[in-house]
Amino acid sequence: MKKPLLVIATHNLDKLREIRRLLGRGAYAVRGLDDFPPPYTVRESGKTLEDNALLKARRAVKETGCAALSDDTGLEIAALGGRPGVYSARFAGSGCSYADNTRKVLRLMGGIKRGERRAVFRTVVAFVTPGGDERLFEGRCVGRIAEGPRGSQGFGYDPVFEPRGEGRTFAEMPLARKNKISHRAKAFTRAAAYLRRIRK
Ligand code: IMP
Repeated sequence: MKKPLLVIATHNLDKLREIRRLLGRGAYAVRGLDDFPPPYTVRESGKTLEDNALLKARRAVKETGCAALSDDTGLEIAALGGRPGVYSARFAGSGCSYADNTRKVLRLMGGIKRGERRAVFRTVVAFVTPGGDERLFEGRCVGRIAEGPRGSQGFGYDPVFEPRGEGRTFAEMPLARKNKISHRAKAFTRAAAYLRRIRK
């Protein structure tokens, strides 16, 4: 029997490859949005990661007619009242770079003591079907904000985020290690387990 299609709501091929690996061989044939032209953009106007993940997955279902998975991630820093959170991509303003964002975090965290630099990366994955079924899965990676940037791997806030128990930032570790312990890996692994259950 032909497998049903599952579309990952992204145009980013690196992300698609990584998510395919996390989902493993399942009951779905996994596709990206590039398999369903024309391209479109979704304004991430939600106030929470959950809202944005659902916005993107619902839109992908509407555009493709297939079940869809999407994700949204934010860095929540305790000393900043949970900021940047849902605004992680544009913390330093619209059109800002990753370096602008990390500089802003380090500036706001200036003078904050070692024990008070707790932060958590949180990913929310949304699964939506054409029949209107909606599920959310969460993955967290707890850690702290480093005193300065370290390492050159990864992207985003990786140079300033030290996962608990690692003694190095995400940007200092091989990608394979990050992908084992990351917020995104945990959220997609949960989604994958659910997809395996419902397709049995
Ligand atoms: P997105 O929801 O995956 O697009 O992530 C939103 C923003 O959070 C990105 O633009 C990055 O700045 C940041 N971000 C997401 N995931 C990571 C990560 O694994 N490491 C560092 N920064 C991340």
